[in-house]
Amino acid sequence: MNSPVMQGLDLKIPSFVKNASLIAWVADMAALTQPDTIYWCDGSEEEYARLCQQLVDAGTFKNLNPAKRPNSFLAWSDPSDVARVEDRTFICCEKKENAGPTNNWMAPADMREKLQFGTASEKALFNGCMKGRTMYVVPFSMGPLGSPIAHIGIELSDSPYVAVNMKIMTRMGKAVYDVLGDGLDGKGEFVPCVHTVGAPLAAGQADVKWPCNPTKYIVHYPETREIWSYGSGYGGNALLGKKCFALRIASNMGKAASQAASDTGAGNPGWLAEHMLILGVTKPALAGQPAKKYHVAAAFPSACGKTNFSMLVPPAGFDGWKVTTIGDDIAWIKPGVDGKLHAINPEAGYFGVAPGTNMLTNPNCMLSLNKDVIFTNVALTDDADVWWEGMEHDSGSLPAHLIDWQGNDWTPESAKLMDANGKPTGKLRAAAHPNSRFTVAATNNPALDSAWDDPKGVAIDAFIFGGRRSTTVPLVTEARNWTEGVYMAATMGSETTAAAAGQQGIVRRDPFAMLPFVGYNMSDYFQHWLGMGEQLAKSGAKLPSIYCVNWFRKGDDGKFVWPGYGENMRVLKWMIDRIEGIAPGQENLFGISPAYTEITWTGLDFTAAQFNTVTSIDTAAWRDEFKLHTELFGQLAYHLPKALEDTRAKLEARLAA
Ligand code: GTP
Ligand code: SPV
Ligand code: MN
Repeated sequence: MNSPVMQGLDLKIPSFVKNASLIAWVADMAALTQPDTIYWCDGSEEEYARLCQQLVDAGTFKNLNPAKRPNSFLAWSDPSDVARVEDRTFICCEKKENAGPTNNWMAPADMREKLQFGTASEKALFNGCMKGRTMYVVPFSMGPLGSPIAHIGIELSDSPYVAVNMKIMTRMGKAVYDVLGDGLDGKGEFVPCVHTVGAPLAAGQADVKWPCNPTKYIVHYPETREIWSYGSGYGGNALLGKKCFALRIASNMGKAASQAASDTGAGNPGWLAEHMLILGVTKPALAGQPAKKYHVAAAFPSACGKTNFSMLVPPAGFDGWKVTTIGDDIAWIKPGVDGKLHAINPEAGYFGVAPGTNMLTNPNCMLSLNKDVIFTNVALTDDADVWWEGMEHDSGSLPAHLIDWQGNDWTPESAKLMDANGKPTGKLRAAAHPNSRFTVAATNNPALDSAWDDPKGVAIDAFIFGGRRSTTVPLVTEARNWTEGVYMAATMGSETTAAAAGQQGIVRRDPFAMLPFVGYNMSDYFQHWLGMGEQLAKSGAKLPSIYCVNWFRKGDDGKFVWPGYGENMRVLKWMIDRIEGIAPGQENLFGISPAYTEITWTGLDFTAAQFNTVTSIDTAAWRDEFKLHTELFGQLAYHLPKALEDTRAKLEARLAA
């Protein structure tokens, strides 16, 4: 194909790109953003190596020691660009109530004026935003390429860091253009995603290592299914296949599917896009019973344990038990022909939290990171390897010297944090940023499930919802039915973490661990979950059990009481015992919980008194907790399903009795 020239810019369309609407859109976006040149990614290994080298030459990447960490790189971001920016994230649908009170909203026309069109007095932010840079055309598939469950996106980005991360995180490359075809058959739909770091370069201006802009906009137009991201190069702000597409846009797609079906009376319940890990857990053959495999999907808020739980290594006393990873962050869930809910992981890699990860807490993760990794904002050792808080457990001591994530010298002595009186607090300044991360292909994970990219997905037996709560919420509770489970998930609270910019450690309601990720009205989302349950029940399917967990309760000494990580297997086994009808459980105010004797304790010294500390229900604390549920429901009154309000009233009455 010949290359049209747009306002002096050669579009450089490769012969393998044939989709007319894609080419027209790229031409439009190039005219708006005015890059110096356009590069169409083909997703090859050669291309990945070339772009990584280019990032090394630019100083954005450091090569890590090839003897210790082959084919791996370290990037340090601008200190102002280290996490998702929730207060700069917008859902721009026509009606404000469709975005709902939990999302930032602006009318699409107003947002387009700001980003795209400008006004007589103000230039649009995207106008000329890529000057002096290359526009990378990044074709990606969320879900196995060409499968009916997958969706395609094209990200236009002026960040080569984004291009190489997208290569790991998604199925990125030439084959996507093949799936799109020429578009003449009416097929070939894709979600257009435009991303800029918002730092155009004037002629001759030298670049910085991590370009970004203090002004940030992470914008979604659910009705036209577009994503526009301005000003950040970090994680979920910039890797648009992840939170923007696979959760905010996809949640709209899943709900729209049910809407379309109910309009025609077809009774299709639609599907769910969830902030969930997916794991397989195999119970060994025992006493004449064959081995059995279950699948669990679990939603914990950002930096609350999904990656760790998905790679869990069963502890001593669990011989023959095995946990395998299907996904670590996002699940797309649809009813299968068997009536069961089937989940796929739309991603192909992990963008995981580094601090806290070591051979004790998460050996499968550490082994995944031996080669072919991009690290962002961790510390650099003197032998050109990486380090983060928690790794001292593997080596037995703190490193004598590091360069921290901001490029400063770090020693255990110089990092000592002092109190107001100049006395040591016993704490050290972190060498790695608390939201420092690794980007690695799923195929690096030794615990990867053989069905991890099966387009049919895996049939879900249980859902788990869990927050980070120092107090109040017990270790594990089973909902008595689907509605109570939806209630528990909807009212879940969690302490905020470094995964999002803003204050940390503040308890906020985070329904379904989806507060920052539901791309429409939260109350309608609750109704979508209730509706899915109703449809499944009607079809005679056995609904997955729903559990609520909290690994993070603290004792009077401020330390976590529950050992967590691999020991979470003990709770997972109790859930399976419940599913199999082996564990009787006991009714509490909100659901069913295990008696001390129902948990397998082999290999762990955890007393009944300690168990009580993590499972007790403090009535006064729960009275306060219910006030927060009521407050949330007040905020979400528009379209709030009556079933949830009724459940709240019933539970509160039980508490008062
Ligand atoms: P996102 O990628 O932000 O969505 O995070 P995530 O939910 O995958 O969380 P991840 O597994 O990366 O864990 C976040 C932090 O919590 C890490 O520092 C972990 O070491 C820590 N963590 C994970 N599981 C446990 C646990 O069972 N107990 C305790 N105490 N800490 C945990
Ligand atoms: C999260 O914050 O939940 C993440 C990291 O998984 S990010 O990709 O930045 O959203
Ligand atoms: Mn996440």
